[in-house]
Amino acid sequence: MEKMALFSVLIILACLHVHSVRSAIGSTEINCVRGSNIVVGSISEGYEGDVEIITNIGPYDRLYLEPHMSYNVLTMLELVYSAGDSNATVRTIRPLDAEEIKKDYTYLTYHVTCFNGPKNSRIVNVMDVNDNPPIFQSKTYNTTLLKSTIQGSEVLKVTAIDKDITEGNNRVSYSILPPVPADFTIVGNGGIILIKHLNYNSTQYIFTVLARDAGGLNDTATVTITIEHFAFDVCLYNALIGEKQVGRLDITPEDLHAHLHDGHTSSSKPVVYSITSVIPSEFQNNFKMENPKYGTISVTTALGREGIEKIVVFIQATLQDDASKTANAVVLVTIV
Ligand SMILES: *[C@@H]1O[C@H](CO)[C@@H](O)[C@H](O)[C@H]1NC(C)=O
Ligand SMILES: *[C@@H]1O[C@H](CO)[C@@H](O)[C@H](O)[C@H]1NC(C)=O
Ligand SMILES: *[C@@H]1O[C@H](CO)[C@@H](O)[C@H](O)[C@H]1NC(C)=O
Ligand SMILES: *[C@@H]1O[C@H](CO)[C@@H](O)[C@H](O)[C@H]1NC(C)=O
Repeated sequence: MEKMALFSVLIILACLHVHSVRSAIGSTEINCVRGSNIVVGSISEGYEGDVEIITNIGPYDRLYLEPHMSYNVLTMLELVYSAGDSNATVRTIRPLDAEEIKKDYTYLTYHVTCFNGPKNSRIVNVMDVNDNPPIFQSKTYNTTLLKSTIQGSEVLKVTAIDKDITEGNNRVSYSILPPVPADFTIVGNGGIILIKHLNYNSTQYIFTVLARDAGGLNDTATVTITIEHFAFDVCLYNALIGEKQVGRLDITPEDLHAHLHDGHTSSSKPVVYSITSVIPSEFQNNFKMENPKYGTISVTTALGREGIEKIVVFIQATLQDDASKTANAVVLVTIV
């Protein structure tokens, strides 16, 4: 009878033991004389529970958990152990996160250290799981484009970051969700490219971009592209001047005037006017932009006639606070 009872207890102990070992990543022993160095095993991130069951601890050994490398393993793991116990468990305090662990070091590493003794070093491989979606850095992306923007230009770049630590899980691909505008496409790095000339009446494009990882986790953002047109009201101006005359040119049908429109409104942003060239070029120095702000042109030296009746003066307008915005016009000067 006594033998039977002992046998039952052994079976129960054996079952408990198997159960505990299965629920932990590994079963180990420590050595408080020489220390030890053990790879406990591999586990997918998100794991919660026992990491290691330490058995056969000597009655006079005293253990504590010590971090290794820069991250504080003590916020992830705890040692369940009281002095004199013959076994101990290292278990998680919170789910293991591969992103947090692998940003510092390839493995989760820690030491079960003996008081006044050596370290027992442990390595756990925490495998990355695709648990992070790509996230756009902004929910809205806005830009304004000049109507004259060159086909093939990158007009805007959107970026979504996927925090997963391995490339297979963090690679992001971008697309535009239907209805896809005919004038734009998105490329691999999130660049939005103008694929047609903006030569018609669209003034604004609003569309949705999708960022997706290999597992289909995704995010969207809204892109608003407003088309602006910086231009002169008239592209060919005329002026008449006597061959001996100097002074301000009278320009028809109106004074030089360039401005920015977005389809609805014209802005009154300051513009700077300049003369870019004069044909024939020997008359270049006869003309001066008298007032760059108002576009008034003066003839500083009489033009003479010398068989020439018409001179072409090329004018450029530049937006004062954005020198990339320019518009061109021509003043045809007739000498009378
Ligand atoms: C750990 O030790 C306690 C008592 O010393 C025992 O009850 C328990 O079964 C042991 N567990 C393992 C996994 O060895
Ligand atoms: C973009 O434009 C939209 C609509 O006009 C506006 O709601 C949003 O706040 C703008 N976003 C940024 C980043 O300017
Ligand atoms: C653009 O708009 C103007 C005025 O609204 C109109 O006369 C013209 O036909 C339009 N052009 C195109 C290509 O739609
Ligand atoms: C984006 O994610 C949602 C779930 O959040 C899913 O239903 C949808 O199919 C995904 N879209 C794409 C294009 O992968």
